[in-house]
Amino acid sequence: MTEKQPIKQATIIYASARKESLNRKLAEIVRQKLLAQNILVEMPDYATLDMPSFNDDARHAGKIPPMAEKLRHILQASNCLIIASPEYNWSFPGSLKNVIDWISHFRPTSLEEMPIFLLSASTSNRGGVAGLMQLRVPFDALGAYVFPSAFTLGDAAQAFDKQGNIKDKSQEKALEEMLNRFLIFVKKTQKNIS
Ligand SMILES: Cc1cc2nc3c(=O)[nH]c(=O)nc-3n(C[C@H](O)[C@H](O)[C@H](O)COP(=O)(O)O)c2cc1C
Repeated sequence: MTEKQPIKQATIIYASARKESLNRKLAEIVRQKLLAQNILVEMPDYATLDMPSFNDDARHAGKIPPMAEKLRHILQASNCLIIASPEYNWSFPGSLKNVIDWISHFRPTSLEEMPIFLLSASTSNRGGVAGLMQLRVPFDALGAYVFPSAFTLGDAAQAFDKQGNIKDKSQEKALEEMLNRFLIFVKKTQKNIS
């Protein structure tokens, strides 16, 4: 059996530019857990991913948003991608679909065979699961490997303490366990990174 390569780097995208974003808080918890396992983390400020609406003529004319290029390179150097996304109107934010569309057109694509873990913090008690079901779809189209389990945090406006920790220790443990299972999944996929 071949030796599993260590996980060097993860990219985290939290899909909300809101100052007090709950998804950013969730992403930050995951970031800390990865750093504790000596995994480098790239977590761009979501405001920097604010790209013009995707336009195929612009792409053919070479007018690629610089941040799309940058994100492509970050993803190429990452063993996995983790996304914490709000649910908007039972779906996921259009701004995130725009980012996915821009980066999907690079060849080679940086999303093929990419292991992806989806999370959502939402103010409803359902916890954003409808949005995440839809978020899988473009990644399936791109040949990414979306981890079958997703972590959803409902009633998230009350879920964090002042330090940004999840108050409910059983939820915190569930997140930790799911993340660790995802990291095993990442090792199994052995994605080549540059
Ligand atoms: C345009 C819009 C649509 C929303 N739709 C939903 C929804 O369908 N389901 C849900 O659970 N929450 C919905 N919410 C509430 C979000 O869960 C809440 O605003 C959350 O804080 C957004 O994530 P953020 O804190 O990371 O910005 C919606 C919020 C907005 C602004």
